[in-house]
Amino acid sequence: MTPLLKIQNLNFSYGEVQALRDVKMEVPEKSIVCVMGRNGVGKTTLLRNITGLEKPDSGEIQLGGKAMTHLPAYGRARSGIGYVPQGRMIFPKLTVEENLIIGLSGGGNQDTDIFDEIYDLFPVLQEMKSRRGGDLSGGQQQQLAIGRALATDPKLLILDEPTEGIQPNIIQQIGKILQHLVDEKDMTILIVEQYLDFVREFSHHFYIMNRGRIVEGGETRSLTEELVNNYLSV
Ligand SMILES: Nc1ncnc2c1ncn2[C@@H]1O[C@H](COP(=O)(O)OP(=O)(O)OP(=O)(O)O)[C@@H](O)[C@H]1O
Ligand SMILES: [Mg+2]
Repeated sequence: MTPLLKIQNLNFSYGEVQALRDVKMEVPEKSIVCVMGRNGVGKTTLLRNITGLEKPDSGEIQLGGKAMTHLPAYGRARSGIGYVPQGRMIFPKLTVEENLIIGLSGGGNQDTDIFDEIYDLFPVLQEMKSRRGGDLSGGQQQQLAIGRALATDPKLLILDEPTEGIQPNIIQQIGKILQHLVDEKDMTILIVEQYLDFVREFSHHFYIMNRGRIVEGGETRSLTEELVNNYLSV
């Protein structure tokens, strides 16, 4: 079966510094795939190339068998890629609801019916819909960032370290919601995550990056202590 996302020989440099080297990756439909690796190995850079925020030097990115590499970021959002950036990046001065409306327009969609689904998943957002984003707690802001990405009704949801700085019960809740999106909404999820318990509990496949390269990958049950010691623990 064709994977939903397929990346071939992707190279990317920040000026002289090569940050991605021959990256190859496949994300099967209706799966949760996790990208891991120490700080600075290129995880965020990879996601920014997939979402179109950076332009690769060479290589190809396909979504559902169609080449995406030439499309700008808004074109990729309209083709079904939703993005939750590292550090959440919600609009602090806008209300929760206004943040969601911005997500909606990013996907080229005008229909606010999807807000009901988002509020079902994250009741706290409904309770706080008139509050300014910047006044939410870190965990609530993360839920808002995910909600905003869901407003585009994506096929592929990409998240960059959603558990960073968040307390365990909210982490667990986010994991359960991702599972629900895959099981009930046919969504596919690519997630950068360093929190090993989360990866083991919620992901189906993993990739490990080191210095801009994919160095390991497989089913999550084959993520051994040896790999963790070699590539992940500090
Ligand atoms: N805008 C930029 N200009 C120049 N170099 C950059 C830029 N952004 C990132 N880099 C460099 O590219 C490399 C990869 O950075 P990236 O942010 O992708 O790492 P990461 O794996 O996401 O790290 P972290 O776990 O800390 O989030 C690093 O060496 C970083 O210093
Ligand atoms: Mg990063």
